[in-house]
Amino acid sequence: MTIFAANWKMHHGPAAARELVRAVLARVRPKEGRTLLFFPPAVSLPAVAAEVAGRKDAAAGIQNIYFEPKGAFTGEVSAPIAAVAGATWVLVGHSERRHKFGETDEESGKKVRAALASGLKVMLCVGEQLAERQAGSTESVVLRQLEAGLSGLDAAAVARIVIAYEPVWAIGTGVTATPQDAAAVHRTIRGWLKDRTPAATRSHILYGGSVSAKNAAELLAEEELDGVLVGGASLEAEGWIGICGGA
Ligand code: 13P
Repeated sequence: MTIFAANWKMHHGPAAARELVRAVLARVRPKEGRTLLFFPPAVSLPAVAAEVAGRKDAAAGIQNIYFEPKGAFTGEVSAPIAAVAGATWVLVGHSERRHKFGETDEESGKKVRAALASGLKVMLCVGEQLAERQAGSTESVVLRQLEAGLSGLDAAAVARIVIAYEPVWAIGTGVTATPQDAAAVHRTIRGWLKDRTPAATRSHILYGGSVSAKNAAELLAEEELDGVLVGGASLEAEGWIGICGGA
């Protein structure tokens, strides 16, 4: 299965989000082996959820949650609230949460467990910064993030998590990892996951970071990539349809 995930970050209110999902779904018809995920801003979730409701191949997700189920946490959204607002997926540990908002590995782990407890599907994002890559520590950073993000989960739970490998230096920069670079890290991640879930079927590992209409087909031709998580190039219909329709 190939997953095409659109992370709209802080773009598109309810009306714009509804219109964009509608335009995309009208032209990207259900196809065996293709899943479409939309991660709008939280306030646009109900609008997006209503649009994907009739499509088994499409779903809505939230970009972040707080790990407590409820309480005095002004400005935060819990997993149960996200779920009733229409999310079936959640992104955890996105690079911008980690590096712009100071989310720790431990907090990502708590969010993963909170999401699963509310029945949300998790896409855990991992990835190294440029200095870490240059220092040769890509593998250790990614494995540390995995270890913390998935700590306390049993094999069955680990097997259900989708991983998005997003090297921080490739996000929003126009610099994409080569398919070979991405595949090398995916193999490391896959090896780690296999050790913990010996009986599981193949885990889904997506690549993200400056994926565009120009490079998506080449990236997806790499058999290690089970999909893409896309920011900028998912923000308008034509471009996103081109990427989703192309595989
Ligand atoms: P860009 O596709 O804009 O580089 O963003 C990638 C990303 O962070 C998706 O989560």
